[in-house]
Amino acid sequence: MSRWKSLVAEVRADVAAARDRDPAAQGVSTFEILGSWAGVQALLAHRAAHALLEAGVPVLPRIIAYATRAVTGVEIHPAAQIGSEFFIDHGAGVVIGETAVIGRCVTLYQGVTLGGTGFQRGKRHQTLGDNVTVGSGAKLLGPIAVGDNAKVGANTVVVEDVPPGATVVGNPGHPVRVEGKRIEGPDADWIHLPDPIAEAIKGLSGRLADIERRLAELDGDNGPAGEKPTEISPRTGRSSAGG
Ligand SMILES: CC(C)(COP(=O)(O)OP(=O)(O)OC[C@H]1O[C@@H](n2cnc3c(N)ncnc32)[C@H](O)[C@@H]1OP(=O)(O)O)[C@@H](O)C(=O)NCCC(=O)NCCS
Repeated sequence: MSRWKSLVAEVRADVAAARDRDPAAQGVSTFEILGSWAGVQALLAHRAAHALLEAGVPVLPRIIAYATRAVTGVEIHPAAQIGSEFFIDHGAGVVIGETAVIGRCVTLYQGVTLGGTGFQRGKRHQTLGDNVTVGSGAKLLGPIAVGDNAKVGANTVVVEDVPPGATVVGNPGHPVRVEGKRIEGPDADWIHLPDPIAEAIKGLSGRLADIERRLAELDGDNGPAGEKPTEISPRTGRSSAGG
C-alpha cells in the first residue's frame, strides 16, 4: 500500500513539474497532461520499466522502453536512475543512456542526448545534479558530472565536467557564466586563440611580395600593378569569455 502511495505521489510531482516548467501547461488539467505530454508519458513509462527491472522482471522493462520510444520519440534505458520532478519538454529525440544518474528537478528539452563516447563498458553516462537544465539539441558525452543548478545551452556539446551553477555553451561546451556572473579575463577565451599557421602564411606572403617588388625594380618594371598579397586576418567574433 505504501508503495502505491509513493507511486501516486511521484506521478503527481512529475505532472506538477510539467505544469511549473512548461508555460504551455498552465491551466491544463492533469488528465490532459498525462494524455498528451510526450515527455511526461515517457517518464511515467520509464518509472514503471525501472521498477520492474529493479524487481528482477526479465524482458518486460525493455519492451516498455521500446514501445515508449515508438510512441513518444524518447528513449530512456530502463536502468537509468531519474530523480523526482523530472521534466522533458516536447519529448522527441531525447536519449538517456543506461548508466545515467539524474538528480531532482532536472529539465531536458527536445533532442538532448545523454550518451557514451564510444564502446566502453561500465559507467559511461553522465551524473546530473539537482536543478540542472539542458537545452534543446545538447549532447552530453561520457561519464562526466554536471553540478547542481548548471545550465547547458541549446546545441552545446559537453565532454567535460560542468561546475555547479555554471552556464556552458558552444562546441566544445565551455562556461560563460558561473553563478550568474560572466567569466572575465583572457584565459577564459579559448575560442579566439592565435592561429600559428595563418600567421606563418601571412609572413611568407609578405616576404614573397617584397621579393617580387625588388625583382621588378631590378628589371626596371613596376611589378604586377595593384597586386597585393592576400590579407589573412585573424578570426574575429564575440569573445566566448564575454570580455
Ligand atoms: C544557455 C542558456 C541557458 C543561457 O541563458 P542565460 O543564463 O540567460 O545566459 P545569456 O542568454 O545571458 O547568455 C550568456 C552568453 O552565452 C551565449 N549563449 C547563450 N546560449 C547559447 C547557445 N545555446 N549557444 C551558444 N552561445 C549561447 C549568449 O550569447 C551570451 O554570450 P555573451 O556573454 O557573449 O553575450 C540559454 O541561452 C539556452 O540555450 N537555453 C536553452 C533553451 C532551449 O533549449 N529552449 C528550447 C525551447 S523549445
